[in-house]
Amino acid sequence: MSRTRRAIAVGALALLPIAPAVVTAVVAASPAHASQPLRAHAEARGKFIGTAVATTQLANESSYRTIAATEFDQITAENAMKWESTEPSPNQFTFSGADAVVAFAEQNGQQVHGHTLVWHSQTPNWVENLDAAGMRSAMNSHIAKVVGRYADNPVVRSWDVVNEAFNEDGTMRDSFWYRKLGGGYIADAFRAARAADPDAKLCINDYNVEGVNSKSTAMYNLVKTLRGQGVPIDCVGFQGHLSLQYGFPGQVRENVQRFADLGVDVRFTEIDIRMKTPRDSAKDAQQATYYRNVMDACLAVSRCVGVTIWGFTDKYSWVPDTFPGEGAALPYDENYGRKPAYTAIHDALAAGGPDPSDTTPPTAPGRPSVSAVTSSGATLTWTAATDNVGVTGYDVYSGTTRLGSATGTSLTLTGLTPNTAYTVHVVARDAAGNTSPASGTVDFTTLAGQSTGCTPSYRLVNSWPGGFQGEITLRCASAVTSWKTTLIYPSGVGVTQAWSSRMSGSGPAYTFTNADWNGTIPAGGSTTFGYIGSWNGTGTPPAPALS
Ligand code: XIL
Repeated sequence: MSRTRRAIAVGALALLPIAPAVVTAVVAASPAHASQPLRAHAEARGKFIGTAVATTQLANESSYRTIAATEFDQITAENAMKWESTEPSPNQFTFSGADAVVAFAEQNGQQVHGHTLVWHSQTPNWVENLDAAGMRSAMNSHIAKVVGRYADNPVVRSWDVVNEAFNEDGTMRDSFWYRKLGGGYIADAFRAARAADPDAKLCINDYNVEGVNSKSTAMYNLVKTLRGQGVPIDCVGFQGHLSLQYGFPGQVRENVQRFADLGVDVRFTEIDIRMKTPRDSAKDAQQATYYRNVMDACLAVSRCVGVTIWGFTDKYSWVPDTFPGEGAALPYDENYGRKPAYTAIHDALAAGGPDPSDTTPPTAPGRPSVSAVTSSGATLTWTAATDNVGVTGYDVYSGTTRLGSATGTSLTLTGLTPNTAYTVHVVARDAAGNTSPASGTVDFTTLAGQSTGCTPSYRLVNSWPGGFQGEITLRCASAVTSWKTTLIYPSGVGVTQAWSSRMSGSGPAYTFTNADWNGTIPAGGSTTFGYIGSWNGTGTPPAPALS
């Protein structure tokens, strides 16, 4: 990173007594020992552990400051960087709170995650009341000004560019942004943020997207589509406002992994785990397990860069005001005493970690055998590797490209290219990150797919209340005599009829194959077919995921 440290006006914060030298000692510590603060253990694992901070408490309470400084190496302003705080009136910017948070981080060796630029909430009414052109320009200038202010500051590393863009069913939230600007506001916001700071990691953030569900799948599809279009999106944030009464979300680690496999970083951005009050020891224990699960999910995936909790003490939490009857969501109690949740976070970071003195790699796994080859997949099976401590997983490679990972001794590869020869091998790894020699290689060729060489692209032709007309153009690099393409829509959208193709499926996936007369496309040629969709939202109908 080519950043230079820029002195920033620290205002009132310059007066604050900040917890002294503690952090220097912590940062130097490696490997982590059980007696150390969370941040030392996190750093030893290559992750951050963060907290949201409130500027009032940062300014007024030394116990609050000390814990924030010593236990955490990342902070997020709970409110101070939101639009209502930074630009309360058009083009009138106030950065006192935001600067105070950044100054605190600078003094304590912490990184700052900027939260948040484009959101439907805590944004002043004047923004909502603008016409489309005015709103677009307000968005761009807000991003330029806020991100630009910290672009040269090395502690401000990342931003939530767009917050809470989805509904629970995976359709786009009908916010004033979406209503006035259409779904394209998201790509525009990311481009504006990249222009303002080419080095910052740019994230999309949401709640109820921790596990695999309709909402997280819509987010996944959007991130994939945007990255395919070259939109600068680097990370996703899972807020993680959980409640014991709803259970722990399903497939969190798998969800982190699938985003990581898109090439984006993943962060847990706003973890709190609330319970019906009053607390008791059973609820505390269950809460500790949930915190542990979150930590373990992040620790299991290298692209998960860290976990931020939404405040750290039950003395100051948004939960009781927002969810009546619930509270006690954080790892410290109201008197700054550590709860079982603290121990769970600590132990996940420290005790569950690999033994850094283990430098012995696993043995090579057996040469894989191949079965069930299709146009897009194949199943590989191999004999286990052994390790002095234990094999924790296997990665399957084609050359240097990782095709997939498994914890057991077989893997069904998906997403392969039709009619393509693959030479694959398997590598075992252990908890300390040691990797085995490669197994022997195996060759196979995927079957010819009907749409070999053709790439689909989508165009919205027209929409009306209740429906829309979509169009797909297939452009073929090589000649084909038949084709097939699949659209996947979020729930709430259906395809009701199609022309110039044969459609099958009833959602969320619809498969289209050529009609009798348009299967043959020469190399470099294209064909187009159309369809009618039903949809009960407003604004721009969501684009399908294409394959
Ligand atoms: C909350 C803050 O904690 C409160 O102090 C404020 O009154 C409302 O916002 N999702 C987000 C956060 O992205 O910004 C929200 O923070 C919590 C939900």
